[in-house]
Amino acid sequence: MKIRASSPGKAILFGEHAVVYGEPAIVTAIDRRTYVEVEDSKNIEIISEDLEVKGIRIRPGKRFETNEDVSFRRASYIFTAIKVLEDEIGKINGARVEIKSDIPIASGLGSSAALVVPLIASLAFHSGHELSKDEIRKLGWRVEEEVQGASSGVDTTIATFGGTILYRRGSYKEIRCKVPLVIGFSGKGSSTKRALEEVRRRMRKNPEIIRGIMRGIGQITRKAVIAIRQNNLEDLGELMNLNQGLLYSLGVSSRELDSMIRCSLEAGAMGAKITGAGMGGCVIAIPNRNEVRVGIRLGGGIPIPVRTGERGLEIESVEDRGKRNNKEEGGERRNKRRSG
Ligand code: MEV
Repeated sequence: MKIRASSPGKAILFGEHAVVYGEPAIVTAIDRRTYVEVEDSKNIEIISEDLEVKGIRIRPGKRFETNEDVSFRRASYIFTAIKVLEDEIGKINGARVEIKSDIPIASGLGSSAALVVPLIASLAFHSGHELSKDEIRKLGWRVEEEVQGASSGVDTTIATFGGTILYRRGSYKEIRCKVPLVIGFSGKGSSTKRALEEVRRRMRKNPEIIRGIMRGIGQITRKAVIAIRQNNLEDLGELMNLNQGLLYSLGVSSRELDSMIRCSLEAGAMGAKITGAGMGGCVIAIPNRNEVRVGIRLGGGIPIPVRTGERGLEIESVEDRGKRNNKEEGGERRNKRRSG
């Protein structure tokens, strides 16, 4: 059996970090994806050039054997996804897993969730378990919590359902959004875990002040929903700049991100801010003209034009016993949950 599944990357328009503390966030799926292909094999073998994970081999009884080329941070999402899935459905079948992605890794664009979600979906399917989308996103959420030490679940929700959503504490509502976006990539990776720890440190030190900042971000996000509904780019840009000021005070900006934000605003962007965990990674800007891309370049970044509101998790194809089925027909499926 051969299964191919994919999920999108994401851009958080408003509310990162505050969402971990119960405030709402607005997030959209972008037209960059991670593809996972699972095929029958004796052991679990993971192959990926794009994700800097080469030749991880997991053998029964000697799990998580890796060679020296492995990027351990990336690999830990894969290992944890397999562990969490096996806790849920029992031992999974041996599989050769090939991962391809056009999402820059550790860039704040949701590359981890876009990997974990189709990985769980396809490995479960390959072992005879057709999980619901909601089950998949919750298992993915557990993986992020384990690897990062905390997670709001926003990344795995958008990687699973796609579109543009208003998310809060595990619940979400779709919103129609036609906001044009340009992403600026600093070329430097960021660690979500490290950024979350820095915010937690500030929260412990000055709880009243940081809680106030989180509430402020929540208010900005709620106002942004109205501006998005009215397609009011001017208000939206202003709200983005306010959100950025508060993210700066949480300590998650960086020299490279500040430089891209300043140069894109000088080039005429209506608003600009960090997207994702920060401390590296990417910014987003609302462009009102092409010069914004030039601004991002002048600020030392790489502009990535993106489409937003893209599709979520998809089982793209299932090939069973030499017969190719489309995703609607599916293959021969058993649904034997461990819990019965
Ligand atoms: C990361 O994309 C967004 C954060 O708010 C973490 C989370 O919500 O899990 C920094």
